[in-house]
Amino acid sequence: MLDKIKTIREEVENITAANKEAVEQLRIKYLSKKGEISALMADFRSVPADKKKEIGQKINELKSFVSEKITQLKEAFEVSEDASITEIDLTRTATPVALGTRHPLSLVKKEILRIFESMGFTIAEGPEIEDDWHVFGSLNFPPDHPARDMQDTFFIGRNPVDVLLRTHTSSVQTRVMEKTQPPIRIVCPGRVYRNEAISARAHCFFHQVEGLYIDKNVSFADLKQVLLGFARQMFGPETKIRLRPSYFPFTEPSAEMDISCDICGGKGCAFCKGTGWVEILGCGMVDPNVLKACGIDPKVYSGYAFGMGIERITNLKYKVKDLRMFSENDIRFLKEFEAAH
Ligand code: DAH
Repeated sequence: MLDKIKTIREEVENITAANKEAVEQLRIKYLSKKGEISALMADFRSVPADKKKEIGQKINELKSFVSEKITQLKEAFEVSEDASITEIDLTRTATPVALGTRHPLSLVKKEILRIFESMGFTIAEGPEIEDDWHVFGSLNFPPDHPARDMQDTFFIGRNPVDVLLRTHTSSVQTRVMEKTQPPIRIVCPGRVYRNEAISARAHCFFHQVEGLYIDKNVSFADLKQVLLGFARQMFGPETKIRLRPSYFPFTEPSAEMDISCDICGGKGCAFCKGTGWVEILGCGMVDPNVLKACGIDPKVYSGYAFGMGIERITNLKYKVKDLRMFSENDIRFLKEFEAAH
């Protein structure tokens, strides 16, 4: 009897079936009332009492093995006969997935960096979470400067109080100068934070690109020429620039740069408030105190720096009036920049 069980098991292990009907035939052959397993059960009556346990177990095992095998075969046909699966049309066009577009600020940032890279600048980045030294101290801000006030700067945690969100990317200047000796020629893009009420004209975070060039004999004329080159590549070859004296703690002398209004061509309109000029950035010669603080000898080296807001440049280039549009992620707004890619 044990031999018989073994033979059936081997037989079943190797069976295959061509279709559903063949599987049904196999079921009848093995599992029906007149099938081979029922026949074994009938023979079981004549098994001597001391073998009943062993043989009984073997028959039960065989029965579950055969049922499982038949179920598997049956399922295989159920799946492959399912029309929706067997008739996949591999040549059909896939459902289109709508592609995103680059954010206008990313487009403008890329363009700014491309222009400066073409003039030999490399990109440097630094952390958004900073300390007082890198954002203010090293950059010649006096201890009581209003920018250090809670009103303008987001301080993080109480202890240590020296952790804050950078208010400008000028902090990256310090980080690079501390680690590298001149010549240094970098542009530093990044996000900055200020404690401002959000409105059409101000936001609590925005983006800047900082520039820094330190070498021997760097002059204000070098700065002016680089900025003129930038303005013409960014806003068109007819663009004019003018530098107005200004003040920043980290540069001396300091200036703000305007470009000729590209809406009225300099004649004066509502956009430039009748002046023919719009402001685009701050700049100046790096203050010797800053060089000294960062371990660079101001008797040997000099340099210039400039900083611009990416939102500001984007506003001028694409006439976006409300700063909030940049962070609302309204798809209708973002889609308008598809063509600018
Ligand atoms: N850090 C200034 C700001 O956030 C921008 C700036 C002005 C950067 C003059 C400079 C600079 O490097 O020379 O408003």
